[in-house]
Amino acid sequence: MVEASSLKMRELVFGLPEQLAEARAIADKVDYGRGGGFGRVVAAGMGGSGISAYLIHCLLADRVPTPIIPWHDYSIPAAADRGSLFFAVSYSGNTEETLTAFRQALRRKCHVIAVTSGGRLAELAERARLPLAVVPGGLPPRAALGYLFVALLAGLERLRICRSHRADLSEAVKQMAARRRVWFRRAGIVASGLQERLPLVYSTCRLLDAVAERWRCQLNENAKVMCHVNVFPEHNHNEVVGMGAPDFIASRSALVALLDSSTGARVRMRLKNVLGVTRGGYAKAMRLESEGRSRLARMFSLVMMGDMVSVELARLRGVDPVPVARIAELKRLMAEAGR
Ligand code: PA5
Repeated sequence: MVEASSLKMRELVFGLPEQLAEARAIADKVDYGRGGGFGRVVAAGMGGSGISAYLIHCLLADRVPTPIIPWHDYSIPAAADRGSLFFAVSYSGNTEETLTAFRQALRRKCHVIAVTSGGRLAELAERARLPLAVVPGGLPPRAALGYLFVALLAGLERLRICRSHRADLSEAVKQMAARRRVWFRRAGIVASGLQERLPLVYSTCRLLDAVAERWRCQLNENAKVMCHVNVFPEHNHNEVVGMGAPDFIASRSALVALLDSSTGARVRMRLKNVLGVTRGGYAKAMRLESEGRSRLARMFSLVMMGDMVSVELARLRGVDPVPVARIAELKRLMAEAGR
């Protein structure tokens, strides 16, 4: 059973380029409504849905003048007002935090767009005649990243928050399809390095901050392990002091540094120096460089690598990557308690 389920998640991970391409075709048919001149964008979602908003933020934050705020809570930021574009992203459409945020955004008169495969969110959006991007259902939410990410990106393009990323997306799709076998072998090696160790995943530039977070979520949910994430250079001003303690961490942690062509020379030097200064404070250190020309392709090269590492680590640990029993149980308990 574990075997069949592992293969299913592995197939889903391998299918990311095809999903991204299909997502583009789906998004092209969505009516995102009219409007422009938004002062800010807020994108609310949790877990496997919310990460799509954080990836968008990291892709665009230093490229577009409009602030894009990823949000992961019931209540929305004070800045969300009638001049704001608001995305509610929930794959199932039934996540209570996202539904509450959605209702609040309506009350604040934001330009609200729902991104979902169905559920209550789709019902509410339809009833209020709001723009609705419906993505194919039936997947674990985290395996629908391609659909959710592209639905958001296309909405931002259509409402003139950012330029078209069509060419970048097709570069990403082609590269992932061409490189996935090689990357999977590399992912197996990284997963072995992480086995029975606490993964410490470090991003070294703002493009990759959400990618590191995606690694954490995928390692948590697919491989069922804890994972720690931090970012350089901020890490060098606090965490560097704590590395290797308590004692068991020193022999039981493995570090993965995510690098990109936008990782500056000084940050690369910092990484080298940190590895030297903290030697003995971790059992193993691995460096992974993004691949590709465009920012989007580079970002997704390491998203896919992280997804692959998580399914490989699940296999090595003998766990089923698909079910997330504790998330389901928490949702059940919260629903049972009522509001
Ligand atoms: O991967 C998962 O199953 C979770 O992280 C969910 O994405 C999270 O609980 C939110 O649910 P949804 O994505 O349906 O809004």
